[in-house]
Amino acid sequence: MNHQHRLTMACLCAALLQGLSLPLHAQPTTAELAFKSHVDQPPPGWTGPVFKLSDQYPATSPGCPSPWLKRKVDFKNARWDKAWEAYIQDIVDYVKEGQEVDLPNETGWRTAVAGSTRWFHVPWMAFDGQRGREFVHGLTNELSTSESVFRPGRGSGTHVLPGVKAVNGVDPLFETWSIGFYNPCGGASIGQQWPKSGDPDTYKDAKSRLLARGMPFPEGTVVVKILNTTADERDVPYLKGSTTWQANGHVQESPTKYSTCVRKVRDVHLVQMDLAVVDLRSPTRWVYTTLAYDGTLPGKTVWDRMKPIGVQFGSDGKTFPAVPEAKSRPLHETALSPMNIPEHYGCNKRLAGIVDQADSSCVSCHMGAYAAAPGVVQVQGTNVPAIFNYPGICTEFNKANSQYFSDYSYPSAYPGSTGEVAAAIPLDSSLQLQVAFAQYAVYKNPQLPRTCPDAGSPSTSASAPR
Ligand code: HEC
Repeated sequence: MNHQHRLTMACLCAALLQGLSLPLHAQPTTAELAFKSHVDQPPPGWTGPVFKLSDQYPATSPGCPSPWLKRKVDFKNARWDKAWEAYIQDIVDYVKEGQEVDLPNETGWRTAVAGSTRWFHVPWMAFDGQRGREFVHGLTNELSTSESVFRPGRGSGTHVLPGVKAVNGVDPLFETWSIGFYNPCGGASIGQQWPKSGDPDTYKDAKSRLLARGMPFPEGTVVVKILNTTADERDVPYLKGSTTWQANGHVQESPTKYSTCVRKVRDVHLVQMDLAVVDLRSPTRWVYTTLAYDGTLPGKTVWDRMKPIGVQFGSDGKTFPAVPEAKSRPLHETALSPMNIPEHYGCNKRLAGIVDQADSSCVSCHMGAYAAAPGVVQVQGTNVPAIFNYPGICTEFNKANSQYFSDYSYPSAYPGSTGEVAAAIPLDSSLQLQVAFAQYAVYKNPQLPRTCPDAGSPSTSASAPR
C-alpha cells in the first residue's frame, strides 16, 4: 500500500468508527466530563431551574474593579474597625451587583451581570457521584479532596449547626450544599489551568518544580462561595426568612443519617457566604471574610440580613497552638465582629464560618491548597498537605500546628514539608482547584473503586450532554 492509500484508509476508518460509536455507546470525552454541569439528571417532567456551568473563561485577565484595595486597613494588627467594615462592604457591593435582593430559587445566582459574564465555575466538580454538582443549582456536597478523610464537619458533608437543640438526646445532622464563583480576573486563571481539552496545563520552572499554569491569581480576583444547609428555621431559628433553594441532595434516612448515593430534590437555605480576595498587602496574598445569615436582623432583604463575622488575612502564627500556650499572644491577623447569633469560630477564635470546621480557620485550611502531579491520586499527608485533620489539630502545641497556623504565600512549598508534599503543585489557596485535580486523578484511574457511580460510568453518562 502506498502512503496516499494508507492515509485514505485511516481517514475512512476513523470516519466509520465515529459514525458507529457516536449515537449509542459514546464514552464521554475528557472535555465533556471536565466541563459537565451536573453529575445527576433532572427527573422526568422537571420544570424547575437547571444549572449550567459557566466555563467560557476570559483568555487573559481583563482587570477588575477593586475599590477595597484602596482602603487603609491594618495588616499588622487587625481589629474590627470602620476601615475593615468598609473594605468588606466594598466587596459585598461588587458581589451583589446584578443579583436579586432575595436570591429566589428560580433565578438562583446569576452568572451574567450587565450583559457580560461576571462569575465562572471550577471544572471537574460534576464528576464525583457522591458529592458532585447537583442539577438544580450546581451545588456540591462539601466535597473534600480525599476519600480517606472522614470526620464530623467538612469531610463528611454533614454538620451540627451551633445553636441547634438536641431532640430526644439526638443532635440532628444537616447536609451542606455549596457552590463557588470566580470573577473574570479569577476566571482567566482557571481557564489557563484548565484549557478546553479538560486536562490540566502544568509546566516546570527553572528549578524543575512542577507548577500549574495561570497561578497565582492576580489582584482584582474575587471568589464567592455560598453555603446552604438542609436545616430550616424550625431547627435553627435564625434561618428565618433565608432563601429556599431546591437541591438534589442525599435522601435523608433519619435525623442523623443520609443516603450515600441516592438523591432527591429537597429545600436548602442560605446560611453562610464566604468571600476571598487577592490583596498583595496581605502576608498570604489573600483576605478572607464570611457573612452569616442572621434572620434576627431587621434588614428588609436576604442581602440586608447577611452580616460579616470577621476578617482574616493570616493564620496567626503567634497564637496557640502555633506557639505554646504560655507564649500565646492575642490574635493579630483575625478580627471578629460582634454577633447576635451563636457562632463557633475557628481554632482559638481564628475566623471560620458557621458551618465550617471549628478546629481550623479560613486561611490555615485554604493556604494548604496543593495538588499532586496531574493524574496522581491525592492522599492527604502523603502527596498533598494534611489540611482537614492531623494528630492534635488545634489542641496542642506541636510541629504540625505551627506549620498549619503560619503565614506563607504562593509559590512556597507547604511549610516544613519534604518529599512528595514539598513537590506538590501550589494552587494559591484554591481548594476548588485542588478538587479539580483530585477528580481528574480519579478519572485517570478507572481501576480505583468508586463510592457511587461517577459521571463517566454508563448509568450516569447515558443521557448526559453538557
Ligand atoms: C477545614 C478546611 C476549610 C476551612 C476552615 C474553610 N474552607 Fe473554604 N473551602 C474548603 C474546601 C475543601 C473548599 C473546596 C470545596 C468546596 O467548594 O466546597 C473550599 C472552598 C472555598 C471557596 C471557593 C474557592 C476556593 O478557594 O476553593 C471560598 C471562597 C472559601 N472556601 C472561603 C472560605 C472562608 C471565607 C472560610 C472561613 C470563613 C473558609 N473557606 C474556611 C475548605 C475550608
